[in-house]
Amino acid sequence: MSSRHWMFAAVFGTGLLLVANHSAAEPKQALLAFADPVESKDDDRHKWNGLPPGSGREDVFYTCQTCHSLQIVKQQGLGRSSWDETLTWMVEEQGLKEPDTQVRERILDYLAEHFGLGR
Ligand code: HEC
Repeated sequence: MSSRHWMFAAVFGTGLLLVANHSAAEPKQALLAFADPVESKDDDRHKWNGLPPGSGREDVFYTCQTCHSLQIVKQQGLGRSSWDETLTWMVEEQGLKEPDTQVRERILDYLAEHFGLGR
């Protein structure tokens, strides 16, 4: 289990405990524990393992974490051509199945925009 999953388990577990403790006396407040605005804003990213919304997000999500964590992708800040080289490297040396041209373009656009230089 990745550390993110543990974190989610911890947060979720705490939420359940809050509900369990409060449900008798203050049911409304207990529900509000789940409606923490900071949390719900992060829900979307959490679902996509921290990938910000945008065209290509799904492609990266499903293509790039079959072998390793998305963390290794997200921590990079590369120009489009360097991302292009990275993908070629993944295909030629690491066993990534060459994505369709369209998918590859979407992945490169997405990575260059969200995990590009100077972010
Ligand atoms: C078939 C398995 C596989 C898939 C799928 C895969 N990778 Fe990798 N990737 C690897 C391996 C193995 C390494 C570690 C290579 C090494 O450090 O020698 C790696 C390392 C990386 C690194 C780190 C490079 C560095 O400088 O340390 C990046 C960035 C990366 N992958 C991006 C991607 C992206 C983006 C995708 C999706 C398009 C992807 N990978 C899909 C196997 C894969």
